[in-house]
Amino acid sequence: MIAPIEFYSFFAILNRMDSLVLGIETSCDETSAAVLYNGALRSNVISSQLVHSQFGGVVPELASRAHQKLIVPVVNEALTNAGVAKEELSVIAAAVGPGLMGSLLVGVNFAKAFAYGLGIPFVAVNHMEAHIYSNFIDDPTPDFPFLNLTVSGGHTQLVLMKNDFQYDVVGETRDDAAGEAFDKVAKMLGLGYPGGPLIDRMAKTGNPKAFSFPCLNSNDDFDFSFSGVKTSVLYYLRDHNLRNTKIPNLLLADLCASFQSSVVDVLVKKTIRAAKKFGVTDVAVAGGVSANSGLRELMAKKTEESGLRLFIPKLEYCTDNGAMIAEVGYRKYSQKMFSSIQSTAIANLEL
Ligand code: KG4
Ligand code: ZN
Repeated sequence: MIAPIEFYSFFAILNRMDSLVLGIETSCDETSAAVLYNGALRSNVISSQLVHSQFGGVVPELASRAHQKLIVPVVNEALTNAGVAKEELSVIAAAVGPGLMGSLLVGVNFAKAFAYGLGIPFVAVNHMEAHIYSNFIDDPTPDFPFLNLTVSGGHTQLVLMKNDFQYDVVGETRDDAAGEAFDKVAKMLGLGYPGGPLIDRMAKTGNPKAFSFPCLNSNDDFDFSFSGVKTSVLYYLRDHNLRNTKIPNLLLADLCASFQSSVVDVLVKKTIRAAKKFGVTDVAVAGGVSANSGLRELMAKKTEESGLRLFIPKLEYCTDNGAMIAEVGYRKYSQKMFSSIQSTAIANLEL
């Protein structure tokens, strides 16, 4: 019979003065584990699955199998790099959703079994809250209340963070996520996967004003839509017989720069407008697309012009990583917000 988690939590708190948190992330195609000692990052191992690039996108079954192979070596490496023995751990946190079901199940079941075997608590982490908390891994950190723009492969959300773990989603995408639009346009342009970083690189040498690829930007709300801008790139390629052909580099750079600037422009405008409407002075950006150099640059410029403080994580904490899971794990552990050993993965988990 499984004993209630409170039993383990009680002893974990009594026996350990210091906190050593292991965070596990397996929601998509990154197998990652990180260790935090009293809130300071000691290790962050990220193994990106290369198997998907030949298919132009993540193949869920292959991702799940790769996580199964990688989870033990990645966790061992994170513990070794941190100089920590598993018996010293205070708590284990894992992303329970949203994400690919087969991928999530590997991390969640591993984390729960490991925690149960060690007699320590398990903390369930929402992958999207972890992205927001990636802004708390290093100092300085935003002050509550602040506005967070989360831009990843599966989500685009404007979240008003009133306090610790108090999420108010004030805007989100009605169709594609920002990262998804980057990946789909990259595919149309014959670039590889994941497309975001490749478009970012090409855009650096292109002219952002070469083409007009409009992106919906209504002033009525804080929602986003990226399917239109994606379709206008597609129509341009179709009308100029450029589909499934090798596009010359100069043209490719202009197409990438024009697409990127259209997306970035809307992301920045809506974020600044929302920050003013909700009266916050701190703005944070998180998720894979927050690695985009155009977004980082324009957001820095416009927040400064508006007298707002901007927080964007270091590049290694933008895309999926165990450190952001461990950060949430540490905060929830400190506030005794433990999860039941019965908790499981939820593919469409909401904030
Ligand atoms: O947060 P993340 O690692 O995974 C999800 O939670 O989805 O985000 C992955 C997304 C992909 O769509 C990828 O193309 C995009 O982030 N991405 C970028 C850049 N780096 C990663 N998009 C634009 N520019 C980048 N430099
Ligand atoms: Zn993510």
